Amino acid sequence: MNLIRKAYCRIFQKAFRLAIPLLPYRKPEILNGLAELPGLFLGKGIRSVLLVTDKGIRGRGLTSGLEGMLSDSGIRCIVYDATVANPTTNNVEEAAELFRTSGCQAIIGFGGGSSIDAAKAVGARIAYPRKPLEKMEGILKVLKRIPLLVVVPTTAGTGSETTLAAVIVDSRTRHKYPINSFPLIPRYAVLDPETTRTLPPSLTASTGLDALTHAVEAYIGGSTTKETRRAAEEAVRLIFRSLRDAYHDGSDMESRRSMLRAAFLAGSAFTVSYVGMCML
Ligand SMILES: NC(=O)c1ccc[n+]([C@@H]2O[C@H](COP(=O)([O-])OP(=O)(O)OC[C@H]3O[C@@H](n4cnc5c(N)ncnc54)[C@H](O)[C@@H]3O)[C@@H](O)[C@H]2O)c1
Repeated sequence: MNLIRKAYCRIFQKAFRLAIPLLPYRKPEILNGLAELPGLFLGKGIRSVLLVTDKGIRGRGLTSGLEGMLSDSGIRCIVYDATVANPTTNNVEEAAELFRTSGCQAIIGFGGGSSIDAAKAVGARIAYPRKPLEKMEGILKVLKRIPLLVVVPTTAGTGSETTLAAVIVDSRTRHKYPINSFPLIPRYAVLDPETTRTLPPSLTASTGLDALTHAVEAYIGGSTTKETRRAAEEAVRLIFRSLRDAYHDGSDMESRRSMLRAAFLAGSAFTVSYVGMCML
C-alpha cells in the first residue's frame, strides 16, 4: 500500500473510531426458535413475507417447518430459493421483484451468509427502488429503513446475522463488493443450533474458521474497543472449546449452540472494529 493511501486509511480509521459512540450500532434481538416467528409477524400486522434461501437448504427440508407454521398462522410465505453461494446482483433483483409483485411486508434471510446477505440487499433495493446495487457499494449509502428483516443463520461463521454488511457479486463483471450500512443490521436473529445440525464437517470447519478470523481481526485491529475485545475473546474461547466437537459430531447440539454464539459474538465485534479481506 502506498504511503498516501496508508495515511488516508489510518485517518479514516481514527475518525471512525472516535465516532463509534455516536454511530447507530445495534444488535438484533435474539430469538431462540422458529416457532416465535409467526407470533412476531402477526403482532406487527404482517401477513405476507418473502423467504430468501438457497436450494440446498430448502432441499434438505430446513425451511419446511417454518413454511408450515407461517401457513398455519395465515401468513403468506413467498419463497425465493435461487440464491447462489456468493450471492449475485441477479439474485437480489429477482428476489426484490418477487417481494414487490407479491405484496410482501417483511423479509426472512434463511441460510448461510449468502442467503442472509441476499436478503439484506433485497431490503436495500426495496428501500431504494431507483438506486442500483452498485451505487450502494461502500459505507453508509443506505440510510432509509428497510422492511422488517429477520434472519436465521444455518452456518456458524459469517456473523452476517448481526453485521451491517451485505457482500454481493456483480453478475456481469463478477466484482464482489460490500454494502455497509446501519439499516442492514437485522432486527431479529433466530439462533437455534438445530438449523446447523445438517452442516457437513467441511463447511462446519471452514465457516468456524471464518468466525475465528473475524474474532482475531476484531481483537487486533486499530478500531478495537473494550466491548469488541471482550466479545472477540469470548468468541475465540467458544471456538476452541467447540469447533472440534461440532466437526466430529454434527449432532452435538451443545457444540453447535456454542459455535452459533461464537459466530454472533465475532460478527458483533468485527462490525464495529472492522476486518480486512476475510469478509470477501
Ligand atoms: N455480511 C457479512 O458480514 C459477511 C461476513 C463474512 C462473509 N460474508 C459472505 O457470506 C457468504 C458465505 O456464507 P457462508 O460461509 O455462511 O456459506 P453459504 O451461505 O455460501 O453456504 C455455503 C453452502 O452451505 C450450504 N449450507 C448452509 N447451511 C447449511 C446447513 N445447515 N446444512 C447443510 N448445508 C448448508 C448452502 O446450501 C451452500 O451450498 C459469502 O458470500 C461471504 O462474502 C458476509
